[in-house]
Amino acid sequence: MDVPGFALVTGAASGIGKACALAFAKEGCAGVALLDLNADALSSVRDEIQSICSKAANDKPTCRIEIFPTDVTNEEQVSANVQAVASLFGRIDYVVNAAGIALKHAGGAAYATSESWKRVLDVNLNGTFYVLRESARIMLSQTPIVSSLTSRPLQRGSIVNFSSIQGVVGITLSTAYTASKHGILGLTRSASEDYAKDGLRINAVCPGYTETPMTTRNPDVLKAMEERVQSAVPMQRMGRPEEIADAVLYLAGGRSSFVTGSALAVDGGYTSR
Ligand SMILES: NC(=O)c1ccc[n+]([C@@H]2O[C@H](COP(=O)([O-])OP(=O)(O)OC[C@H]3O[C@@H](n4cnc5c(N)ncnc54)[C@H](O)[C@@H]3O)[C@@H](O)[C@H]2O)c1
Repeated sequence: MDVPGFALVTGAASGIGKACALAFAKEGCAGVALLDLNADALSSVRDEIQSICSKAANDKPTCRIEIFPTDVTNEEQVSANVQAVASLFGRIDYVVNAAGIALKHAGGAAYATSESWKRVLDVNLNGTFYVLRESARIMLSQTPIVSSLTSRPLQRGSIVNFSSIQGVVGITLSTAYTASKHGILGLTRSASEDYAKDGLRINAVCPGYTETPMTTRNPDVLKAMEERVQSAVPMQRMGRPEEIADAVLYLAGGRSSFVTGSALAVDGGYTSR
């Protein structure tokens, strides 16, 4: 996948973020920083990734995995921890903004509470912005990385933001989540243009229904989703976190060297209907 160098992944304690962190480690990253609100889960994920990678490499030293408990809604904490990652690794080549929350508003937009609206926007959109801003400042000041692919322009850094099928279309009872994911596409497109000529690429991935704790922890939500998947997803199945991670690593690494400002749908065909 051409991901030499160092990665920072938010939301790394669960689901898709965890799959992305593991994929970076397996595909040749020298170091991965795991950021998440959930400190206990972060430690377990670090141990799990280290164990998988050392077994694969016959116990030779491989990718360095470091954890940074972080609330992405806390600007000061985000700045301090992104800078700490850069100091530890010497640079940050890839940033994946996977931290996110989802909730439904019973009764729809007319009955959504201000509290739930603000919380979803704060984690999903503001959190993504804070991490992007601090990381971009670091990336813009570092020398470009040497690609392992021949004849490719070098890149200074690459940021992948998490939108959703709900960044492209609306889904009922999800006003705040849908607004946050549309906002992430706006952030991605505008910021990508700011730095396209500087070797800093910024893209978004738009997953469809994917099997993670976000979608499977509530049996009622899961049942409704499985029915919806049968009728609305051309592939008639949910995605696996690893399938989303593959798209993220493509967007992060040198194989997407001419791609910036894009929104890559990984949704079993949902938004193509
Ligand atoms: N699962 C899906 O079907 C699906 C579909 C489209 C998009 N997405 C997006 O993919 C991303 C990953 O989702 P997932 O399905 O892996 O969910 P998940 O619930 O399994 O993981 C989300 C992670 O984000 C962390 N997090 C939440 N609030 C945080 C905060 N304030 N600061 C730091 N970390 C925080 C959680 O602790 C958790 O570890 C999210 O942005 C989500 O919106 C998911």
